[in-house]
Amino acid sequence: MGMPHFLAIPYPILGHMNPLLEFSQVLAKFGCKITFLSSDENYNRLKSGCAEQSKVIESHIKLVSLPDGVDPDDDRKDQAKVILTTINTMRTKLPNLIQDINALDSDNNISCIIVTKNMGWALEVGHQLGINGALFWPASATSLASFNSIQTLVGEGIIDSETGLPNRKQEIKLSPKMPLMDAVAMPWYCLDNPFFFLHMKEEMKILNLGEWWLCNTCFDLEKGAFSTSPKLLPIGPLMEDEHKINSPFVEDTSCIDWLDQQPPQSVVYVSFGSMVSIKPPSQLKELALGLNLLKRPYILVVRKDNGFGLNNAYVDEFRGSQGKIVSWAPQKKVLSHPAIACFISHCGWNSTLEGVYNGVPFLCWPFCSDQLINKTYICDVWKVGLELEKDENGLILRGEIKKKVEKLLEDEEIKERSVKLMEMVIKNKTEGHKNLNKFINWAKK
Ligand code: UDX
Repeated sequence: MGMPHFLAIPYPILGHMNPLLEFSQVLAKFGCKITFLSSDENYNRLKSGCAEQSKVIESHIKLVSLPDGVDPDDDRKDQAKVILTTINTMRTKLPNLIQDINALDSDNNISCIIVTKNMGWALEVGHQLGINGALFWPASATSLASFNSIQTLVGEGIIDSETGLPNRKQEIKLSPKMPLMDAVAMPWYCLDNPFFFLHMKEEMKILNLGEWWLCNTCFDLEKGAFSTSPKLLPIGPLMEDEHKINSPFVEDTSCIDWLDQQPPQSVVYVSFGSMVSIKPPSQLKELALGLNLLKRPYILVVRKDNGFGLNNAYVDEFRGSQGKIVSWAPQKKVLSHPAIACFISHCGWNSTLEGVYNGVPFLCWPFCSDQLINKTYICDVWKVGLELEKDENGLILRGEIKKKVEKLLEDEEIKERSVKLMEMVIKNKTEGHKNLNKFINWAKK
């Protein structure tokens, strides 16, 4: 029996493209054949990226594309529109594309379609054509388990069926071994347009066509979540630095040389991922002045699209020279550097996993979606971090930043637990590989 041929179809945003592209490269290393379907726009970015990088990607993976129907003048940040347009445009074209791919490769037809969130429709197309399917979820199993519980939570009257908001203040447990979570901290929280909640309610039904829900996590990190569905399969942590689509953010690699000059475990690393913005301006001021108070070196990532230019964002009294301010850091390399002491993070799943994988303690500053759940795991389940508390106006003040960083760095138990957690996660890699093999063997059918 030959190796399976996967058709990987990410939702056309960077946060889905890159993790699935990385996962596809891992599957290719296991000897699988991969066809990677992008929107025309992302395909062109992949092709026009660094020639060397495109060559490496294309030596393992066949790239194909379809239009996603989003007009170049349309606002791609309007996700509700992108979701609907993508479904309407790509869905009708996919069966012919599959036929063409199979005609060119008659000995090794597509055996399984792998999608990310919002692309469940492609599993339906596959189902109609008799092709197996799987979901790739580049976030925690708990967040997927939460989406999968929507019908139950609605049925039990815990959340409203139209908005997803809790009907009263309460904490919920999705399964007996999972932590108590605030009903308001579910991953659809802060997607203030009810479209997203209603869309996910329907999407989860379609994603059930996928035989496996492959999560970039490991079993021991979120044991309880795996009892909620037999489809959940931990295949992580995927930490290989694989090739990516050109991101709009250019990495400032000078921070590694700068880190080399700093004492061991001295630097506070501050980053809020690729989407979150620090608002209002007074909050950025408190953060900047809080870092001043620390009297320690730090790396602060302020993306150019955060709405603040690096030159005019800070108040005069801010001594930015004490730290290194960059618009995008090589985060995996930064977190694995021995000079790092702790991570002030928005608790996006990738950042969470990368911090845990390197044994770095956290100061949690969650904003929305799955970040609140991830914070619960960091602070209450794994106990490898502390949460930054907001004042009555919803701001995290400079004094709070100073106090919590100092408290965290004096806490030897948190440091010990962080190292133990890291060791456990590294051990789980073997299990992740076994699960990947299990998935690949299943796809050979
Ligand atoms: C989004 C959501 O916000 C998050 O809640 C969800 O869990 C995943 O999708 P994002 O906000 O970008 O993701 O956060 P995160 O998941 O942490 O991913 C950020 C990625 O960007 C990480 O892999 C990190 O290494 C990388 N990064 C971030 C850099 O390479 N450089 C930086 O300066 C900042």
